[in-house]
Amino acid sequence: MGSVERVVVVSGGGTGIGKAIATWFARQGDRVTIAGRRAEVLAAAAREIGGDRPVRTVVVDLSAPDEVERKLDELPERVDVLVNNAGGRGTPVRQGGLKEVAERWRRDFDNNILPAVLLTEALLPRLARPGGRVVTLSSLAAQRGNGSYGAVKAALLAWNHSLATQLGPAGITANVVVPGYVAGTEFFGAPAGEEELARRRAQTLVGRVGEPDDIAAAVAFLASPEAGYITGEFLNSNGGALLGR
Ligand SMILES: NC(=O)c1ccc[n+]([C@@H]2O[C@H](COP(=O)([O-])OP(=O)(O)OC[C@H]3O[C@@H](n4cnc5c(N)ncnc54)[C@H](OP(=O)(O)O)[C@@H]3O)[C@@H](O)[C@H]2O)c1
Repeated sequence: MGSVERVVVVSGGGTGIGKAIATWFARQGDRVTIAGRRAEVLAAAAREIGGDRPVRTVVVDLSAPDEVERKLDELPERVDVLVNNAGGRGTPVRQGGLKEVAERWRRDFDNNILPAVLLTEALLPRLARPGGRVVTLSSLAAQRGNGSYGAVKAALLAWNHSLATQLGPAGITANVVVPGYVAGTEFFGAPAGEEELARRRAQTLVGRVGEPDDIAAAVAFLASPEAGYITGEFLNSNGGALLGR
């Protein structure tokens, strides 16, 4: 894929899938910035990723509009590739009445929609025209249900349609990668036990669980210059789990 150095921003690039994505770009010699809420996690990832150029870190809660605005100066002035990876399920909300239902839906919206939408809006004027790439992470949950989390991940697909429509005339593509289960991230808190891994493996057609590098490869393709004719699309990477064994 492309050998020209690019400026890449990866939200949630300090752990899991985001770290694998940042690592992939850094290995190509691209200039990578990773953003997240925990300074020490970002610093450790930046050291580990290394590469030819230092990885830049930006400590920011991407669900807070005023914080994103304040941190704009620390983000690159020109962006070739924006990867909206930050997200997750957040702190569990206890079962209860409608107050807890609302709390759970707001939590999932804040954790998954706002980071993608606010960072993209903030960086819109800085996206390379033509040639810019926006890649956003959804989830297999968007196609399977999974309550409020699946619903907000599905909403990212609808949002991406608008984004692709808006950015297409400027020569910028906007696409979504939809991962199935991926081990080795902080998404589920503690690492999965052998029984859980076996259950997840059995759901796939390829007989293994996903790794962060699997998802990084899908993002890398959609971010490549060669993928310039693909926009407003989503790419599943789930080992065939959608076919439901
Ligand atoms: N693992 C899976 O099986 C799986 C499957 C389908 C989809 N996904 C999606 O893949 C993406 C990456 O998740 P992961 O599995 O790699 O889990 P992860 O290790 O928990 O990564 C999530 C990253 O996002 C950052 N983040 C979360 N909220 C943020 C906010 N408001 N502002 C800034 N940074 C924020 C976190 O860092 P801080 O906590 O330091 O902010 C963390 O580095 C997520 O969108 C997730 O929904 C994961």
